[in-house]
Amino acid sequence: MEEIGTTHPWGAAATPYEELGGDSRVRELVDAFYDRIDAEAPTVRAMLPANDAGSRRKLYEFLSGWLGGPPLYVSKRGHPRMRMRHLPFAIGADEAAEWMRCMRLALDDTGVGEPLRSFLDERLTMMADHMVNR
Ligand code: HEM
Repeated sequence: MEEIGTTHPWGAAATPYEELGGDSRVRELVDAFYDRIDAEAPTVRAMLPANDAGSRRKLYEFLSGWLGGPPLYVSKRGHPRMRMRHLPFAIGADEAAEWMRCMRLALDDTGVGEPLRSFLDERLTMMADHMVNR
């Protein structure tokens, strides 16, 4: 029997993925994020291919598993090794801040509420800082 009244740092659901609302919500968040990158993060946008459909797909697949949902990225591409996969791109503190600024706007754009929002902000900031390689 599931414990009654159990909460996690992200909320009442068993995983952040469920708390967010599942697959369609992960897609919405990723699309909102890349729309913000396209519109107002020229330095990060310049690192991406002209057609960013593949970038959107990879982030969606990664976040699905990272949030505790289906491990779509790992099933297709193996161990994420995210820091290593980012080494070809010059990521300094400014680029990490730009990435997080767009992600925070995407969390707003898609109406992600508390406490999930603060949880994601904290964990994604750690990930973004971890990608800094210059
Ligand atoms: C810190 C600032 C960051 C910058 C400037 C950045 C930039 C990039 C760029 C230019 C790519 C290549 C896109 C492509 O292959 O189409 C990429 C790939 C990717 N990024 Fe980031 N990224 C950052 C942080 C993050 C964070 C925090 C995450 C996860 C939460 C993430 C997840 C991914 C994933 C899953 C891929 C696809 C990797 C692959 O399979 O090649 N990135 N990123």
